[in-house]
Amino acid sequence: MIIEPRTRGFICLTSHPKGCEQNVIDQIEYVKSKGTIDGAKKVLVIGASTGFGLASRITSAFGSGASTIGVFFEKPPSEGRPASPGWYNSAAFEKEANKAGLYAKSINGDAFSNEIKKQTLDLIKADLGKIDMVIYSLASPVRTHPDTGVKYKSVLKPIGGKFQNKTVDFHTGVISEVSIEPAQGDDIENTVAVMGGEDWKMWIDALKKEELLSEGFTTIAYSYIGPSLTEAVYRKGTIGRAKDHLESTAFAITDSLKPLNGNAYVSVNKALVTQASSAIPVIPLYISLLYKVMKEEGIHEGCIEQIQRLFQDRLYADNMPTDDQGRIRIDDWEMRDDVQAKVAELWKLATTESLPKIGDLKGYEKDFFNLFGFMVDGVDYDLDVNEMVEIPGLQ
Ligand code: NAD
Ligand code: NA
Repeated sequence: MIIEPRTRGFICLTSHPKGCEQNVIDQIEYVKSKGTIDGAKKVLVIGASTGFGLASRITSAFGSGASTIGVFFEKPPSEGRPASPGWYNSAAFEKEANKAGLYAKSINGDAFSNEIKKQTLDLIKADLGKIDMVIYSLASPVRTHPDTGVKYKSVLKPIGGKFQNKTVDFHTGVISEVSIEPAQGDDIENTVAVMGGEDWKMWIDALKKEELLSEGFTTIAYSYIGPSLTEAVYRKGTIGRAKDHLESTAFAITDSLKPLNGNAYVSVNKALVTQASSAIPVIPLYISLLYKVMKEEGIHEGCIEQIQRLFQDRLYADNMPTDDQGRIRIDDWEMRDDVQAKVAELWKLATTESLPKIGDLKGYEKDFFNLFGFMVDGVDYDLDVNEMVEIPGLQ
């Protein structure tokens, strides 16, 4: 079939298998071009199909020659209906990994559930024995608690007061005022239950209990901080509380890993266009201004450049620098004073009329469509494609 983008609000309902495959191939080529990294050899990636998790899986496999198991929650294709992009990404990843002689298997289902954890543990036992690293890169709006069955929904709200600022609809380029009511009731607890660290710790506890972690085991999860511009809705909002919880969970996990000399880290990553971030108000405008400034400075990175640098210059460097709260900072270029000063200046000037000149709306839009395999260089969208792509090592 011929597949075209169909958008509704902040999501795209279709995705293109060839475009997704090309994205994955480009990321693999990038990692290979940067040389080998002496990293983990048996790696579990939770949230492995898109964004930072996919980049982590690619960097592990093609940077360090790792065997990888990927866990994700994606929609398979049906006749005439394309799969979700992470499905096609994972199919392409496994195809390339197999060609390179690398072990790669995948599990599609709810990572928060006991069933998917058990299935993953069984696969590790059968195929890998012990693992050296777990990358935890889930982004989800909901979580059903495995023990109680309670379904939590996360919200993106400020805490304490109403938030009012500019936002952009990146499809139309129209800037408007957005006003978000503060969190109330159980909003904070619910958001922490979904995006905090409880599930990360559950995974590590389960793996440890079954003795599936090797000596010197490492686990890493991803966080975000960002500038004062977005602080009210992000770091000081409900999602920020979840990130605080995730970050403190790293210390609890590290404690539990003492007998293995293991470590849990949080890496603070750069703001990037992903399915998760396009849904957050204000962030798309911030990102389009940030992209403009970082591209002008020659320091723009996507997920793969971020994660490759995280592995090469932080995780597996001789001396790993962290901030005063023990976090790895790979958002260092985003947070540079000169970069933030320029973004703050542009923010004041941003209107529907000025944005095409002062912001990188085009770059934002291209990155957004790229997430779904559209607008990818080198792909002929007039050609018929088979939507019924299989993931070779899907369990
Ligand atoms: P993403 O939407 O691209 O990836 C989410 C992944 O989680 C996908 O693989 C998806 O299949 C998987 N997933 C979601 N729900 C699941 C479930 N119930 N069971 C199994 N898998 C599930 O998101 P991302 O932007 O790469 O985010 C990953 C992490 O990075 C998050 O913690 C996010 O907060 C963090 N982060 C993102 C940014 C950014 O700007 N995008 C910046 C810094 C940190
Ligand atoms: Na991810």
